Amino acid sequence: MKNELQQLVEKYRPLCEQGKLADYIPVLGKQDPRSLGITVMTADGQTISAGMCPTQFTLQSISKVITLILAIMDCGEEEVFSKVGMEPTGDPFNSIYKMEVFAHTRPLNPMINAGAMVVSSLIKGDSIEQKVTRIIALVKQLTGISQVGVMEEVYESELEHAHRNRALVHIIKEMDLIKDVDMTLHTYLRQCAIRVDCEGLAKIGLCLAQDGKNEMGEQIIKPTIARLAKTFMVTCGMYNASGEFAIRVGIPAKSGVSGGILAAVPHKMGIGIVGPALDQKGNSIGGVALLTELAKRWNLSIF
Ligand code: DON
Repeated sequence: MKNELQQLVEKYRPLCEQGKLADYIPVLGKQDPRSLGITVMTADGQTISAGMCPTQFTLQSISKVITLILAIMDCGEEEVFSKVGMEPTGDPFNSIYKMEVFAHTRPLNPMINAGAMVVSSLIKGDSIEQKVTRIIALVKQLTGISQVGVMEEVYESELEHAHRNRALVHIIKEMDLIKDVDMTLHTYLRQCAIRVDCEGLAKIGLCLAQDGKNEMGEQIIKPTIARLAKTFMVTCGMYNASGEFAIRVGIPAKSGVSGGILAAVPHKMGIGIVGPALDQKGNSIGGVALLTELAKRWNLSIF
């Protein structure tokens, strides 16, 4: 398995040169575009890593899965889904267009930025720090990484260029979906800058794959919430590439602009990937290719 993974990483590393770093966050523009790495953690207890991963990278949009889980734990499904919908948009993650045209009452889903910010505002805590500390606590519990924290330089770098997210947070405030604009924006930007590694992502994936049980068999997330998270990953996890990804790969997955991909193959394995060079839709170009071939070889599609 290790050799096979290593060969696949080498096969797709050249493809990374066709991708583009997420330099709209200047610090992410300094990553090595040729790095590509993967960790697979299986339900029968094997952990296999291959390739070169940056030791640590930021969750970015993968954090939207974590905050959705936490907000539902905190407030329940009914309250969360009274403020954010369940429909894919088919638009880029930071698009404003449907907020104007269709989503008069609430953002269409929790995986687009507007919806993710509504979700972050629902997390219990009276300050940015309290909310982010609770998000980090869940990431620590899920990944087993004790050093989880915010990469301050990524947060600062995004903060300086967060004009579109500032526009979106004001739109959801106008819709009366959040109370505090600054608390919501900063909580969201800080959750995006939480650092993890490939193994941590694979562990989160395995926990979702095992209906909320971690590798020790402890129930961390209720099975209903784990199922809901996986369903959003299938329908909206790869943004406006989610349809094609479901057909070609067929694994619940969530990407982030740092090049991370979290994937959960029900009852089989969790997969963590990082490859910072992105395709046109903001997903890791090498990571998607790697997962596509892996899904075919190992027959991983859920469909
Ligand atoms: O909101 C943003 O622009 C980022 N911090 C997160 C976006 C992201 O990861 C989108 N993913 N593909």
